[in-house]
Amino acid sequence: MDKLLEISKEALERIAQVADLKELNDLRVHYLGKKGPIQEAMKSMKDMGQEERIAFGKVSNEVKQNVSQAIEDAKAKLERIVMEEKLASESIDITLPGFKVASGSLHPLTHVVNTLEEIFLGMGYQIAQGPEVETDYYNFELMNLPQGHPARDMQDTFYIDVNYLLRTHTSPVQARTMLKANGQGPIKVICPGKTYRRDDDDATHSHQFMQCEGIVVDKNITMANLKGTLELFVKELFGEKRAIRLRPSYFPFTEPSVEVDVSCSNCGGVGCSMCKQTGWIEILGAGMVNPKVLKMSGFDPEVYQGFAFGIGIERVAMLKYGIDNIRDFYNNDIRFLAQFAREDK
Ligand code: DAH
Repeated sequence: MDKLLEISKEALERIAQVADLKELNDLRVHYLGKKGPIQEAMKSMKDMGQEERIAFGKVSNEVKQNVSQAIEDAKAKLERIVMEEKLASESIDITLPGFKVASGSLHPLTHVVNTLEEIFLGMGYQIAQGPEVETDYYNFELMNLPQGHPARDMQDTFYIDVNYLLRTHTSPVQARTMLKANGQGPIKVICPGKTYRRDDDDATHSHQFMQCEGIVVDKNITMANLKGTLELFVKELFGEKRAIRLRPSYFPFTEPSVEVDVSCSNCGGVGCSMCKQTGWIEILGAGMVNPKVLKMSGFDPEVYQGFAFGIGIERVAMLKYGIDNIRDFYNNDIRFLAQFAREDK
């Protein structure tokens, strides 16, 4: 009996000091197993008298129960510790601020094209497109710039071979649109797109740039329609306070031709360094479609008239956003480009 109580005491002490589940399991096997000390002690029961045996049996059962209960309790305690450690190490602090995901933004030239498209779609125009690798025929011949015409020098050209070139302006889309219409008006389109010239790059020139062509062909079209359209366009683009001015100019594809200036935003028209003291800034070329151009593209100039204009997209963007170097559009400096995220809608 004393031996049994000693075993019990020792077992409970060892269980109380156990450090992990494996050790605890070893103790369980040791004390409660068939070859364990309790079982061993119980073997002596066969030599006992009945009363003593009953008393011994009772105590040994209690010892087994106590040891077993102590093991269960220790197991639960160890498992709880393991779980708590796991929870602590895997916990997520949901109050931490998240990572900021950097998102891109539209290019300033894309903003300008989108704005032009919105303005002209609002006036009932459609959007047309043409190839950037163009033929000499569309780029020059149909625009009334035959071989040897001195005005070809105004547009230094990247030739691919004698027939093919990179379009120097978006004007060939005029001819393409008119030919598709088979001599039947009305036509009202704008054509934004890339253009190329063999210019040396500097603050205001780029060998690749963008234009937006516009052409309207219908009966009874006059210069007044052109002026009204451009006035509305400029006010929508730059604001109500801006005025336009037409100056006589020359383009082979329009007759008469004009250069269009917008009143300077910086000084309001009185003259400053931005407008070179003139109060005006040139933004586009325009005119009445030359009857020869109408005719070559299948329209009867006795019945139809038209006006056309060519807007420099970079120029508009530079004026609108106060950019002084055209190369900024093409250098892909993220510090420059990211400033236009605020324009995204
Ligand atoms: N194509 C001309 C250029 O690149 C711009 C232009 C001027 C277009 C007058 C037109 C126009 O449609 O009528 O310089």
